[in-house]
Amino acid sequence: MVHVNLIKKWMYVLLAFLVVLSICLWKETRKGYYVSLKVESPVEQLYIALWKWGIPKQRNVPHKAVNDSSTIKIKENTSVPQTRSNLVANSQKPEGSIKVWNKNSSSKNLTPRLQKVRDNYLAMNKYHVKYTGLKNAAKLSPEKVLCQLRERLDFQMIQASDAPFNTSEWETYLPRKNISMELGQLGQCAVVSSAGSMKSSRLGTAIDSHNAVLRFNGAPTKGFQADVGGKTTVRLINSQLLTVDEQRVITDPQYNTGILIVWDPAPYHADIHEWYRKPDYSFFNSYKKYRDTHPEQPFYILNPYLQWQLWDILQENSPEDIQPNPPSSGMLGIVIMMHLCDKVDVYEFIPSKRQTDICHYFQRFFDQACTMGAYHPLLFEKNMVKHLNQGTDEDIYTYGKVTLSGLRNVQC
Ligand SMILES: *[C@@H]1O[C@H](CO)[C@@H](O)[C@H](O)[C@H]1NC(C)=O
Ligand SMILES: *[C@@H]1O[C@H](CO)[C@@H](O)[C@H](O)[C@H]1NC(C)=O
Ligand SMILES: *[C@@H]1O[C@H](CO)[C@@H](O)[C@H](O)[C@H]1NC(C)=O
Ligand SMILES: *[C@@H]1O[C@H](CO)[C@@H](O)[C@H](O)[C@H]1NC(C)=O
Ligand SMILES: *[C@@H]1O[C@H](CO)[C@@H](O)[C@H](O)[C@H]1NC(C)=O
Repeated sequence: MVHVNLIKKWMYVLLAFLVVLSICLWKETRKGYYVSLKVESPVEQLYIALWKWGIPKQRNVPHKAVNDSSTIKIKENTSVPQTRSNLVANSQKPEGSIKVWNKNSSSKNLTPRLQKVRDNYLAMNKYHVKYTGLKNAAKLSPEKVLCQLRERLDFQMIQASDAPFNTSEWETYLPRKNISMELGQLGQCAVVSSAGSMKSSRLGTAIDSHNAVLRFNGAPTKGFQADVGGKTTVRLINSQLLTVDEQRVITDPQYNTGILIVWDPAPYHADIHEWYRKPDYSFFNSYKKYRDTHPEQPFYILNPYLQWQLWDILQENSPEDIQPNPPSSGMLGIVIMMHLCDKVDVYEFIPSKRQTDICHYFQRFFDQACTMGAYHPLLFEKNMVKHLNQGTDEDIYTYGKVTLSGLRNVQC
């Protein structure tokens, strides 16, 4: 009798534990939604939720009530434990030569958690990547890589002449003027990452001194001008944001000025028809709604080819398999500006001495994946950008600044 009772008790405890676990997992998946990790299938969501669970244990981050259910809040002015991976030296004063991002970084440098995530994405191969190009090739010189970017990337935006967009309806929605005409030839451009390390950077004036500034997704300038500047010439947003946050994107003034570009993950080297039938996020109606509300603002749809052309170049220049998912918005924005400008200064894509696990300068959300990559092959993107840097390591260390050549000035 005693025995049976004990078993019963344990069953109840187990049941209670399972209920609590499912509630927590459900909450975590909701939170994960707004991080730039694209998660769709329940399996992916569960997986991401599981590894996110490790965060509170690793960092002593005091959690606080959530404002908008999308971010983990912590007390203002709580000192944040600076975790630096073994990819970079620690953030003490430079002694002799300073250490910044190592362009030879490999997946072995990732934490076990992020290595697992990468393995998982490799096994999942959601976009049906069948890479047939070079692998483990000798590292190309920066000049050669620039030529690959110049010669193999298609920077066109979707036009009304591109079937299946060649309907009279789409003709009323797609901008008539192409983006090069809209912007003219740009000289010095800035790409401002949304990294947590932008905070307290005091880079605002330097950023605004550029002819054009590109920002990403919901990155605000209001309230952060001293650190990130106030000028926004181009804003690159992903289809997830446009779809999920449609009303906010349409009404929030930060989206309603400058030029907008939206991009959407497509199957590996899918043609426009295939992608049009099955976009990662069905953003076309949101796009039309936005255009109806703001018909004067130039708003482009990036062609689906660019992401996988760029991915191929990243893979070709990496000695190991990179995540078979599209490059980050950050990397796409960088090459788009390299196409449009003579010179591009990229801020905090390669982390400065301010490197932190805070994902975005405007949110209190911690995850090392935001710097090192989970869904996106961020590690390998950073290796490439560091390889192409024409500036100094001091500029990276102090300002998080990398200087890249515009592609039109590249001799191939
Ligand atoms: C949180 O909510 C308060 C009150 O609604 C608001 O004043 C504050 O700006 C919000 N903070 C963030 C980071 O959204
Ligand atoms: C943050 O804490 C430091 C040291 O405790 C203090 O000097 C500073 O004024 C605080 N800043 C804010 C914004 O509360
Ligand atoms: C990266 O690897 C190359 C080739 O093995 C080597 O010459 C170079 O010194 C390495 N760079 C760094 C920063 O470790
Ligand atoms: C759109 O383009 C395709 C391929 O060029 C063509 O077959 C089709 O007739 C065009 N549709 C319209 C409405 O012009
Ligand atoms: C943009 O449009 C102008 C004028 O219509 C044209 O000369 C130019 O080649 C176009 N540029 C691109 C990149 O399509």
